[in-house]
Amino acid sequence: MQSREYAKLTHTFPLAATRREPAGPVRTIAVTGGKGGVGKTNVSANLAVALAGMGKRTLLLDADLGLANIDVVLGLQPKHTLADLVAGRCTLEEVIIEGPNGVLVVPAASGRRHMAELAPAEHVGLVNAFSELERDLDVMIIDTAAGITDSVLTFCQAAQDTVVVVCDEPASITDAYALIKVLSRERGVDRIQVVANMARDPNEGRALYEKLVRVCEKFLIDVSLNYLGCVPQDDWLRVSVQRQQPVVKLYPSAPAALAIQEIARRTARWQAPTTPRGGVEFFLERIIQQKVSA
Ligand SMILES: Nc1ncnc2c1ncn2[C@@H]1O[C@H](COP(=O)(O)OP(=O)(O)OP(=O)(O)O)[C@@H](O)[C@H]1O
Ligand SMILES: [Mg+2]
Repeated sequence: MQSREYAKLTHTFPLAATRREPAGPVRTIAVTGGKGGVGKTNVSANLAVALAGMGKRTLLLDADLGLANIDVVLGLQPKHTLADLVAGRCTLEEVIIEGPNGVLVVPAASGRRHMAELAPAEHVGLVNAFSELERDLDVMIIDTAAGITDSVLTFCQAAQDTVVVVCDEPASITDAYALIKVLSRERGVDRIQVVANMARDPNEGRALYEKLVRVCEKFLIDVSLNYLGCVPQDDWLRVSVQRQQPVVKLYPSAPAALAIQEIARRTARWQAPTTPRGGVEFFLERIIQQKVSA
């Protein structure tokens, strides 16, 4: 965080006054899950590519700062990553690369330990750095790391919606519950969308969701859960991972691809924010700008 330009971004926003036309508000959706390996990255990447394919101007942020792999899943070779932005070697605009269906991708670096150990203020700085972008965007998908670290909590808090991916393993339910509890109690998140991944049939997906609802009710977590859908266990998705292409593009009629396209249609109907929620928030000044000019 040595860069003067970056340091400036942690404290101030380059305001819309410097823009030709103020860009509109952006729907921001964080994808998380608590447990590792439940499918966060594949859900994020395919959801973003599906939304881009529907004509939504979509930005996909790899917020797994220490073990980033969105670029690998999408077969991209980034020139710059968030590590270069943090070191002051480039601007956020220069980090962006284009992926399948024209999705815009902000890749992170893998194996840079200092990126996994940024201070809380630096996570807020990264969120605020998005104010620098002048692009017109409809939606941003944020792929988070596993766990309940400050980075995961801050990126979820800064997004309008948090999608929690769960699968049929006891540790997935307990980790998802732990994450939801901390998000609710420490970060004021009061609404969670649930995706059941690797389900053997639709009933299993719904049953997993209901299990999570029961745990949250039992321990009096003040949060409303909504079932966004289920993604089946699908070997075509595994083949796509091997071939470094998103399943929605490589095998669009595979069961997992159809399920993610349906989830994309649902999320595409969500409205962009109209009022700031208070606290750290992606593209905050665009929401304020919209309110001022309304
Ligand atoms: N619906 C699915 N059907 C079959 N395999 C799947 C499915 N979803 C995920 N997988 C498998 O699980 C692996 C892990 O998925 P992914 O990398 O998306 O998980 P993650 O939650 O992002 O992991 P991490 O916590 O390490 O970031 C994939 O490489 C793929 O092989
Ligand atoms: Mg991942």
